[in-house]
Amino acid sequence: MASLTRKNWDSAYAKLKSALKSADPAQAADLDALEKIRLRFLGRKGSLTELLKNLKDLPLKERRELGPQAQARRGALEEKIAARKAQLETQADAAALSESSLDLTLPAFMPARGRLHPLTQTISEMAKILSLMGFSWAEGPLVESEYYNFEALNIPAHHPARDLQDTFYLEDPPLVMRTHTSAVQIRAMESSRPPLRIICPGRVFRNEEVDATHSAVFHQVEGLAVDKNITFADLKGTLDLFLKRLFGPDTRTRFIPSYFPFTEPSAQVDVGCLFCSGSGCSVCKQSGWIEMLGAGVVNPNVFKFVNYDPEAWSGFAFGIGVERVAMLRLGIKDIRDFYENDMRFLSQFDESLI
Ligand code: DAH
Repeated sequence: MASLTRKNWDSAYAKLKSALKSADPAQAADLDALEKIRLRFLGRKGSLTELLKNLKDLPLKERRELGPQAQARRGALEEKIAARKAQLETQADAAALSESSLDLTLPAFMPARGRLHPLTQTISEMAKILSLMGFSWAEGPLVESEYYNFEALNIPAHHPARDLQDTFYLEDPPLVMRTHTSAVQIRAMESSRPPLRIICPGRVFRNEEVDATHSAVFHQVEGLAVDKNITFADLKGTLDLFLKRLFGPDTRTRFIPSYFPFTEPSAQVDVGCLFCSGSGCSVCKQSGWIEMLGAGVVNPNVFKFVNYDPEAWSGFAFGIGVERVAMLRLGIKDIRDFYENDMRFLSQFDESLI
């Protein structure tokens, strides 16, 4: 079109207008159809592009008149194409998402986090406190001989203390499910020479009627310290500090006389009620005190069983129930909740609470 005339231009422009009417970008069915429209008018060889290119052949006056018109048309067409393109792309995304089950816009699922059982957490806390006081962790078997569970702890056959402990017996050879972690005291002393400071956390078994505060399987932490010149005062100081670290710095303790065959003297250790601070409530049965543990100075008879010289060495021991501590610290009313493995219960006890 080297010699473009105004007439030629007008007719080409009229054709373009009518072609544009029949090729409205807003009606393009898909991105391919839209691209065809773009190429047809705006591509390098597109009819509008050609028209604009050929403008230069017209006299200046006509260029001034026609140029802006054609440019405006190009601008409008470009805008329409861009708008339709955005619309078709959004539709295509939506269609792709509805076809696949993968919706990348959904928030991610948090992986279920495991956590330690509240009893395990409580044992860890007690062990942590006691390890800072120099005690190391010891373990023993759950099935014990009568020797370790009773005899070496100064509880001979037919001693009434055996009856107190509702023992589960396994016959032939006579074995027992250990009724207390005190059995590990004997094993620990047998396998090392004094001085010695150990704790033994673990499971114990008693043929008990199960109710809100009793279970046939429960847990204890046993402690034993043997050294030169250990006295009842060491026991008092150690347990007072231990209980303050466990229940809070304002915790009060009291030691009242008690009896255990393996300690002499023996004490029951109470803490001032954690709920009413001593004024009396249903938890402490209006007494202001809660019974916490048994303890005492190691009976010299026990030393004889493990060949420790009772003249040279002395010691103290204590045994504390884990469930009781966990119930008091976590406000749990029924011991059975610990064993039912109901995740709604267990998942409340985040490690950070302990
Ligand atoms: N073994 C005792 C019980 O199960 C608890 C206990 C009391 C342990 C006094 C001790 C102790 O070491 O000295 O009831």
